[in-house]
Amino acid sequence: MSHTRRDLFKSALALPASWTAFQSALTAAAPGDEAYWRMVQRQFPLEDKIVYLNAANVCPASRPVMDRHIEFLRDFHANPSFQNRDKYFAMRESLRSKAARMLRVDAEEIAVTRNTSEGSNLIVSGIDLKSGDEIIVTDHNHPSNLDSWKVRAKRHGLALKIVRTPVVAPSADALIGSIEREITDRTRVIAITHLTSTTGILYPAREIAAIAQRRGIWMHLDGAQTFGALDVDLTAIGCDSYSTSAHKWLMGPLEAGLLYVRAGRIPKLWPSIVTAGWADDLKGARKFEVFGQRDDPRVVALEASLDFVNLIGMAQVEARMRALAERAKQGLAAFAGVEMKTNMQPELSGGVVKFKLRNVPTKRAYDALWQRHRIATSSTAAGESEGIRFSPHIYNSAAQIDAAVAAVRELAG
Ligand SMILES: Cc1ncc(COP(=O)(O)O)c(C=O)c1O
Repeated sequence: MSHTRRDLFKSALALPASWTAFQSALTAAAPGDEAYWRMVQRQFPLEDKIVYLNAANVCPASRPVMDRHIEFLRDFHANPSFQNRDKYFAMRESLRSKAARMLRVDAEEIAVTRNTSEGSNLIVSGIDLKSGDEIIVTDHNHPSNLDSWKVRAKRHGLALKIVRTPVVAPSADALIGSIEREITDRTRVIAITHLTSTTGILYPAREIAAIAQRRGIWMHLDGAQTFGALDVDLTAIGCDSYSTSAHKWLMGPLEAGLLYVRAGRIPKLWPSIVTAGWADDLKGARKFEVFGQRDDPRVVALEASLDFVNLIGMAQVEARMRALAERAKQGLAAFAGVEMKTNMQPELSGGVVKFKLRNVPTKRAYDALWQRHRIATSSTAAGESEGIRFSPHIYNSAAQIDAAVAAVRELAG
């Protein structure tokens, strides 16, 4: 049991029954076996008849997290007085500390945002840059970390260098080299994706951050596909900023996220949104999270999702998620009708599994998986990354992965 059991929800309403039931079930279960994971799976409200394999897009919240959220929503709307809402200041600080502990950074370096897109845009618009400065991005970055840079570049005369990402990475060195080759004396920012949503490449972020740090270059990492999926240690990685969402792998509330900004970089980042509650002397990354009235109960739900994951243990969550993704990869790769579009090596991949059926149009395969088998996936319709994406998480079972692989085999004939 993780240390966070001790400081679970110090200052709030009584725990909902689903929390206490989950805690008792955890105590009774033997960690790691299939029965244990079946118990975890039962915490989620997913319909029995669907196989949900789209964590890379959005994850369901567990019942304990949802119930906690709903209780606070009810409490808020029953009594919206300043006096009743006072408690949210302390709760946001408690959330900040827990998020920082999970990411191995200081609480002062965490801002509570609304999603990865917002966090990345705060970086894109907040760094001091002048005409002629160079920014390195990759073509597989999400639009929030690519198109946003194109707009900034157009507005301020920056030179944007867009590095081509391979569908399957030949090696970590090749990925590092592709970025390093573009660095010049005018490079100010390297903005890449920790794990790509397109074909699931896990970038060697630590090595790239070390290169950036030696040259004084700001390294921004989009962590949408790693927070809550991998046991991320931002101090070990050494990036300058990292943005993420709670509604993906963390299985938290919708429209909640985090932005990490390294302490030494905080004074160098301009706030992009300034409104009531903002002050120049706000401490740490707090000056990047003042957006007007916030949805306070969501803050509690975000903290609850950290607690939920911590009760299981982030390392165990990663191991289970990886075992399911690996099972899918092995099952799919064994079949000649399937072209794998994700690296098999764990050091170059995570929870995103991309593949294409050689003889079945992708759209037809995607529709058939849902219509015939109720398997929810994502797909890319065309281009190099064309294919179906499986992204399993701890609410899936090994049997569901086998059923999804069997459905793909049946489709491919
Ligand atoms: C790599 C990556 N970055 C950013 C995002 C945007 O996330 P959000 O919509 O939560 O801001 C996504 C969404 O899928 C993503 O995959």
